[in-house]
Amino acid sequence: MVGSLSRRRFLEGLGKSGAALAAGSWLPSLGYAQVGRGPARAVLNQARSRGDLDRRLLGAFLEHLGRAIYTGVYEPESPLADEHGFRKDVIAEIKGMNVPIMRYPGGNFVSGYNWLDGVGPKKDRPTVIERAWNSLETNQFGTNEFIDWCRLAATEPLLAFNLGTGTPEMAVALVEYCNVASGTKWSDLRRSHGYEQPHDVRYWCLGNEMDGPWQMGHMPAREYGRKARDTARQIRVLDRSLQLIAAGSSNTILPTYLVWDRELLEECYDQVDGISLHNYYGNTPQLTGNSTARYLAMNLDMDRQIQEIAAVCDYVQGIRKSPKRLWLSFDEWNVWYRARGGDFADGKRQFAPKLLEEVYNLEDALLVGGFVNTLLRHAERVRVGCIAQILNVIAPLVTNETSVLRQSIYYPYAWSLQYARGRVLDLFVESETYPIEASGLRPDFARDDQVPFVDITATVDAPNGQAAVFMLNRDLDNEREVALEWRDPVPARVLACQTLTGTDLKAFNTFEQPKRVVPQTLDAPQAGAQMTFRLPARSYTVAHLATR
Ligand code: AHR
Repeated sequence: MVGSLSRRRFLEGLGKSGAALAAGSWLPSLGYAQVGRGPARAVLNQARSRGDLDRRLLGAFLEHLGRAIYTGVYEPESPLADEHGFRKDVIAEIKGMNVPIMRYPGGNFVSGYNWLDGVGPKKDRPTVIERAWNSLETNQFGTNEFIDWCRLAATEPLLAFNLGTGTPEMAVALVEYCNVASGTKWSDLRRSHGYEQPHDVRYWCLGNEMDGPWQMGHMPAREYGRKARDTARQIRVLDRSLQLIAAGSSNTILPTYLVWDRELLEECYDQVDGISLHNYYGNTPQLTGNSTARYLAMNLDMDRQIQEIAAVCDYVQGIRKSPKRLWLSFDEWNVWYRARGGDFADGKRQFAPKLLEEVYNLEDALLVGGFVNTLLRHAERVRVGCIAQILNVIAPLVTNETSVLRQSIYYPYAWSLQYARGRVLDLFVESETYPIEASGLRPDFARDDQVPFVDITATVDAPNGQAAVFMLNRDLDNEREVALEWRDPVPARVLACQTLTGTDLKAFNTFEQPKRVVPQTLDAPQAGAQMTFRLPARSYTVAHLATR
């Protein structure tokens, strides 16, 4: 019986199962214990020491890439455009989602971007060859348009500097242009462009993926660390309080993974507030052996990456004897493996080419639900997160000339925005597991381990008397029962319970058939201290609860 499961016994169970697992298993550190057949059990408790999650954890990313900006957010010729040329239907979708923060303008794009090309009278802005994606960039949408658009979409801007081909001087000039009120060269330039009030941008990325050999201006870690430090130090003269994010490892496979992070932080730890991490996942022969069971465990790889990068930050904090603890910015994450490389990534010198237009299916959506769970359980350390990206390019939302399509991955992401509020609960989960094997997989995903069939996170919003539980059932064949044991708070009512599931894991939405993968209502148990949910096979479920 779940009810008879004492915390002490439960923790003992965790210890035992840890011993039974292969050395180095990821489960115990996430609060998961392996059990035999039967319902999964989760004990939910408030961690009083913890603060509310920062909603920036659930942000998104918009790059000058493919059809993301042009014919995506900005399409002046469209009957759907407002007086600024912004697609009103796109704004309505994104505003309706409540996206807390939007990273812009790149991505690889930013490492060759001259922000001055994108401000001032539109007729004077140059068309240039964009070298990250070999496209034509007309600069008709730039920093000021982005800020206007953010205000309309009710999201906070997160701007990135060009630390590839760009200089610290021009990065600081951009901060002055955006944030200084008046009376200086760059602030007055902004005012002459029609923006009397400063934009007050608080979060900034110090470049993008500078560890990647594909990046314009790619350089060794220490060199980048010194450039980031120099840039940050000058910016702090303008405003000490800005939140500055160093560009950490762009994935887990580069040979520099973790070494890059350590070396760059040894150079700039004192000047930065956070470090970025990126990763993209896919169901491929190299990454999963084309196994959906392995694929649906990939959010646990994300857990591990977060733990590893946090460990590097803490190491550098230790050797520098710094009182400051860095937070993490997982500012590019998603599934991306089909529309990747080759023609998918080559704009062929065209304006608004169709690039990286990944089509997402049901199994991708289930994994995105897993990523949401992972980010939530690390909310104490990961302050910013950005699904990459938001529109047309590897995105939950896709436009054609007349409408916006919600891809399958829209739903788990939108649920997190709608329901994940307040504090993340402490969870101890007992679940039956299934094995995964390292053999034949790329080294960073090669693991011999046990994967719990269920993956659970929960939040509680005390002031509003609400809670939410997010549950992934990785079992491809069977319904799974999950017995939730609420210690504090105890739910009083079920407000909503929805699940994303289906028989065809490869099903996807199209403009012609937009409802192939959409949520269904799930029967929920009576609210109370004990609640047993029956999760369909292959599903991601959210339960929204009232706690009074
Ligand atoms: O999001 C697509 C690209 O992926 C970004 O431009 C880059 O930062 C990453 O490699």
